[in-house]
Amino acid sequence: MLDRAVRPAGRTAGADTLPAVANLGKIAVLTSGGDAPGMNSAVWAIIKLAAARGIQVLGVRRGFDGLIDGETEELTRELGTTNRLAPVHGLDWLAATGGTFLGSSRCPRFLTPDGRRMACGTMTDAEIDGLIIIGGNGSLTGAHLLGKECTVPIVGIPASIDNDIGGTTDAIGVDTALNTIIEACDRVSDTARSHHRAFIIEVMGRRSGYLAMASAAAATADAVLVPEQPKSEDEILDQLEQLLRKSFSKERGKRRVLIIKAEGVAAPTMLLAERLQARVEDLAGVDVRATVLGHLIRGGHPSYHDRMIAGRFALAAVGALLAGATDVMTGWQSSIGTTTPDTNVSLVPLSDMLVETERMLDGSSEIGRMRLELIREVEQVLAL
Ligand code: F6P
Repeated sequence: MLDRAVRPAGRTAGADTLPAVANLGKIAVLTSGGDAPGMNSAVWAIIKLAAARGIQVLGVRRGFDGLIDGETEELTRELGTTNRLAPVHGLDWLAATGGTFLGSSRCPRFLTPDGRRMACGTMTDAEIDGLIIIGGNGSLTGAHLLGKECTVPIVGIPASIDNDIGGTTDAIGVDTALNTIIEACDRVSDTARSHHRAFIIEVMGRRSGYLAMASAAAATADAVLVPEQPKSEDEILDQLEQLLRKSFSKERGKRRVLIIKAEGVAAPTMLLAERLQARVEDLAGVDVRATVLGHLIRGGHPSYHDRMIAGRFALAAVGALLAGATDVMTGWQSSIGTTTPDTNVSLVPLSDMLVETERMLDGSSEIGRMRLELIREVEQVLAL
């Protein structure tokens, strides 16, 4: 596809055009999987960076579903009669908002060769010279499969609040989600202290305990439960009972106990709270409550950090397509992949991302081990 990519006659690139081997006329962008704050910032940055380089941008609606069904819309327009490109009208609000305005989906059809063939057909019909896929590890796995079966170059941008994507230390949305968790914990702590209560707060993360681990110290939690440290329900209850007895003892005198639990820990949160309450009935005036934060932490305006990495990933992704790369993802402060002009951003082969993701989740990767070591150290301090 690259060799057929031509910039439409007479269209000039912006003054900040990078050296490029591929002459892209039109690229497409889609967001897929669970939305993450900062996805819109990345789309906005892609539109502007591409427009500045004379590249037209199509937005694909509803993730892979829209790619299969050919649902695209123009995100750039010709600027007067100048032959220069600009974003379409009415999108100036985009970079600062959560969710994804393009829409997203979890798309079982994309798991089938037929679905991917149709997606490839949409790109060929629309003469798309490159595709940027913004999403989590499932979506990037889809990107990798599509890249093997379709000649259109594909570049991924990691975006998922779970931070469970191998080959990048950070993904779009993680920072905002952590800020939301901390704010929620502060609010719960206000009421918990007023009533001498223990709270179990469940946070999202699918199989990954990252959000729980990363928020625990900042929220001054007293304990953290993550799937990376497997424990039986009874072991958890023993640990928490001991924690409550110590924390609420006259000697220690805590006014609230906060336990952050990752959703990947199998024991149901409400049931844990009930069983813990039953174990500490003898502690006068101590109540146990539970709050599941759920989708609350997926929404909201993206933080500075998420907007910043979104912009830098967008720059690297457009640069990667221009440089003729495919089947890669942008990685933040990654130990693998090839460097880009931005020293914090690498291009990581999607096949390596897949391997690293599994190793991160089973705790055998360098980053998985480091996270576990950190949590072991932090745990000692949390309960004090
Ligand atoms: O992957 C992001 C995430 O929010 C996970 O933390 C969570 O397990 C899942 O998506 C929820 O998915 P859905 O929004 O489809 O219920």
